[in-house]
Amino acid sequence: MIVSDDRKISELKNFMREAKSKEHPDSQLISILHKTQELYGYLDQEVMSEIAKEMSIPTAHIWGVATFYHYFNLKPTGKHVISVCLGTACYVKGAEEILNSIRQELKIDFGQTSEDKLFTLQEARCLGACGLAPVIMIDDKIYGSLTPKKALEIIKSYRK
Ligand code: FES
Repeated sequence: MIVSDDRKISELKNFMREAKSKEHPDSQLISILHKTQELYGYLDQEVMSEIAKEMSIPTAHIWGVATFYHYFNLKPTGKHVISVCLGTACYVKGAEEILNSIRQELKIDFGQTSEDKLFTLQEARCLGACGLAPVIMIDDKIYGSLTPKKALEIIKSYRK
């Protein structure tokens, strides 16, 4: 059971307690989901039920929010998460070619994790670095002005 990890669940519960003390607790849901993903790497069903209980928010509402945002992972991810930006600025500068080369290299599509569990591929809609288009983000690090070749070199450097 994932919620039996005492350290993580008690950190999350403290975070929720603080959120509840704020003026509009229900508007804190996104930051709670961020915290959950930071702790667990994805939004686990069991943990989501804990959030629903603690915050008195219907589970269906929480799932609605979680599935609306591409940022949230609903399944366990690989060690590194690669987000490929397909926002307009990146798209016109060749994001699709970059995406295709990554797909071929890792043999995965959006929402999937490579066989070696090293990479999960995600789609993003503008990573806020349009001036550097086309852009990918690996974990929290942005890489810009990419070509398919550069993108693959960067990915290879995460294999070492
Ligand atoms: S469109 Fe890709 S960073 Fe903005």
